[in-house]
Order: sequence, then structure tokens, then C-alpha cells
Amino acid sequence: MKEHLKHPIFSIISDIVSTENLESYVIGGFVRDIFLKRESKDIDVVVIGSGIELAQKVAAKAGNPKVSIFKNFGTAMLKFKDLEIEFVGARKESYNRNSRKPIVENGSLEDDQKRRDFTINALALSLHKDNFGELLDPFGGIDDLNNKIIKTPMDPMITFSDDPLRMMRAIRFATQLNFKISDVTFEAIKENKERIHIISKERIIEELNKIVMSKKPSIGFKLLDESGLLQIIFPEFHKLKGRETRNGISHKDNFYHTLEVLDQLVPHSDNLWLRWSALLHDIAKPNTKKFIKGIGWTFHAHNFVGEKMVPRIFKNMKLPLNEKMKFVQKMVLLHMRPIVLAQEEVTDSAVRRLLFDAGDDIDELMKLCEADITSKNEEKVKRFLDNFQLVRRKLKEVEEKDAVRNFQPPIDGQEIIDTFNLSPCKTIGDIKLAIKDAILDGVIPNEREAAYQFMIEKGKELGLTPVINKKNK
Ligand code: CTP
Repeated sequence: MKEHLKHPIFSIISDIVSTENLESYVIGGFVRDIFLKRESKDIDVVVIGSGIELAQKVAAKAGNPKVSIFKNFGTAMLKFKDLEIEFVGARKESYNRNSRKPIVENGSLEDDQKRRDFTINALALSLHKDNFGELLDPFGGIDDLNNKIIKTPMDPMITFSDDPLRMMRAIRFATQLNFKISDVTFEAIKENKERIHIISKERIIEELNKIVMSKKPSIGFKLLDESGLLQIIFPEFHKLKGRETRNGISHKDNFYHTLEVLDQLVPHSDNLWLRWSALLHDIAKPNTKKFIKGIGWTFHAHNFVGEKMVPRIFKNMKLPLNEKMKFVQKMVLLHMRPIVLAQEEVTDSAVRRLLFDAGDDIDELMKLCEADITSKNEEKVKRFLDNFQLVRRKLKEVEEKDAVRNFQPPIDGQEIIDTFNLSPCKTIGDIKLAIKDAILDGVIPNEREAAYQFMIEKGKELGLTPVINKKNK
């Protein structure tokens, strides 16, 4: 494995530990990623002894980068070139059952490997010159990598109970790597699911977002559901599950539909917030569901109700309550518009209105809507996608012609007041709206002069007389 330890940092560490005759290893994710052929910039180094002392000695030989010391945890971190290296003394850990804070005791390499989360994360490569690059794998991590298995080195009941975040990590790794969680390990997740409550929401969302950003997020959400964790960490999403049948008519299972939408979106977008929009686009379907005789299942206004649900969900899950959330709200609100448009005749006016409402987010909205087509009927899918092509073409044409994407009314309220010598009143808003509608409906072009004439006409209709002022002379 020597060829994977060519970075100068490894020879610096190797010189020190060999001179001082210390046992030291590179361990964890970096070693796993060598075998997975993934590049990793985070290195964990374990030493039988003091991690902090070793970090200080390495820093002295590596041009004195700043060493950050975490005394409580007995760890130290430094940055060297493009890498971030964390040093820790090998530990045998027993945990305080009500928090994740470990009670640390010094231990051997194997003690340290055993206390790690998964066998694939417990691989170590020696840094001592006597056996530089030798792999130490007492828990069968390489076999599990080859067989694509996520499994804990010791009894999973202890591993998860010690640190319940590892339940999320198991599902996250299974999703990212497309590995299977061993049956015994998965059973232990089910049994320990309630312990997820001691983990902060910030840590949970970090893992959940990694699932959302993976190549096939549905794997993770199905595992979260099966383990019982989903109901605890994201109850609104869990509520999408199930189909109901009345008078022989069933609606689709919105849980599986949503996951299909998200999976379909993945190749088209790396935008985390668009992926969240996919997750939440039908979130209000359970709350708005009704069976109407002669019509069937309806989810009336689920986009409006969904938009209103987003802030509470974001707050509960400690997602950001800023413009990212607003973007998700907008996508949830508008997610049916392009579909409706594609079903009807694609008129310039409807396209202009869509452009006006979506603004710069129109491209993201179109991606979401295309992913939202999950019918099994190929004929139907093709028809929709063809119509979407037409909508996209029209969007382009209308945008080039009328520039309504970032529509700013060419006449503002003040000008209406000045023109007709009005005191603040509802009429001003009515005229403004009439101008906007006339532009969006294509009655007049999106230009000042045309809008000005339209305003004068509209005013006259309302019994107003224009007064001469500086602006319209
Ligand atoms: N680890 C653990 N339990 C945790 C977190 C981490 O046992 N809850 C151990 C694992 O051995 C892991 C190593 O610490 O490989 C480093 O953890 P981290 O940097 O969080 O994750 P990586 O495994 O490197 O994976 P990724 O970079 O994808 O998060």
C-alpha cells in the first residue's frame, strides 16, 4: 500500500515515529477511500501515545503550521499543503450513556479499531518504517468492502448505543456507496432508533443532506423508513406513505412517487435546494386529500398549503431560514404550473405569466417539473416531455422578445399619482395591475411609451383626467 502514502506528510510522520519508536497508523475514511479509489483530503492518524504531542512534533518538521488542540478529546489538527490531518492517541472508550461524550482511556491499535463505527472505516496502514504501508484489518473490512457490506466491528447494539449518529452514518454510507447494511447491524438500528433523540438536529441534517446529494437518494430514504428513523427525524415526509382506495379508485403512493422524482432530478441538478424542493413538492398532499364522488381523489391547493408548511419543516430540521428556504417555497408553490401549461395550448400569455412568477428560477422550476413526470405509461411520458420542449422553446422566444423574466413595471405608482393628481387610493393599485396584466397578456409591449399611453386610456375609463406634469411633457 506504500504507493498510496507518497504525500510528503507521511514521510515526515514516519521519520518521527520511527526515530521515537512509536506505533502510528493512518486510519479510517482515508484508508477506506484508497480501496474505493476515491480521493480524500482528510487524514486521521492514530498513535499509541499522545496524539497532541505527535501533532506538535510533526508541525515542527513541516514548516510550523498552526496546530489546533482539542484537549478534552485528546486530539490535534493541522493543515499541511492540501491536506487536513487529525492526530489522536489510540483509545479504548467507554461512553457516558446520555451523551456522545466519551470517557477516554488509552488503548492499543485494535482497541481503537474496535471502537470505530464500521469495519470499512476501521482499516489502518502502518507508518513505522519497519512495516510502512502494511494493512491492519482485524475486523474483515476489506472483505466487507469487496462484498459491499456495512457492518460494525463489535456488537452493533453497543456501537449504536454509544454513538447513535452512526445509525444515520450507516444509512448514508449504504446510500453513497450502494452497499447493503448487514442484517444484524440493521436490526440494531431498529432497536436503537429512539436514541437518535440525543443527537443534535444539526448533525442529523448533515447526514441527511449527504443522502439527498448522493446519486440515488431513494436508497437512503427507504432505509430510513424501514428502520423507523424517518418517522422520528422527518415525520411530514413519512406521512406521504400509503395508498388509499375508495370505490375502486386508488391514489398513488406519494412517498415512492416523491423519491422517484428526486432520483430523476439527480442527473440534472446538484443544487441541494432544488433537491429539497423535489422532496417537499407534494408534502401537503396528505393534508389536502379528499375523495369526491364522480371525480376521484383530489389534493386541492396542495402547492399553496405545501408552501406554507416549508418554514416549519425547515425550522424543525435546522435547515436555513433564509433565501434558500424562500427558493424551496417558490418551487413548491409553482411546481404544477409548467405541467398545466404543457397540458393546454401553450399561449404566449401563459408563458409570459410563468416567466414573470418564476423569474430567474425558471430553469430550476422546469427541471423539477420534468422530473415530476413519473408515469409508467411511456406514451404519456413522451407526450409530456415533448410538450415541455415546446414550453422551453416558447419560454426562450418570449423572454427574448419581451424580457419579462425580471419584470419591473415601466410605470410606477408615483407616476400614476402625478399624472392624475391623485391622493393615495386603491385606484393607483388598480391601474398598476392593469398595466402589468396588459404587458403579460401581450396587449401592449413591455415598453415605457406603450405603458404610458395605456395608463392614460385606463385612467380615462375610470373617469380620471390627466394633468400636465414635467414627466409627460
Ligand atoms: N468515526 C466513528 N464514528 C463516528 C464518526 C467517525 O467511528 N460517529 C470514525 C470512523 O473510523 C471514520 C473516522 O472516524 O472513518 C473519520 O470520520 P469522518 O471524517 O467523520 O468520516 P469519514 O469516514 O472520513 O467519511 P466522510 O468523509 O464521508 O464523512
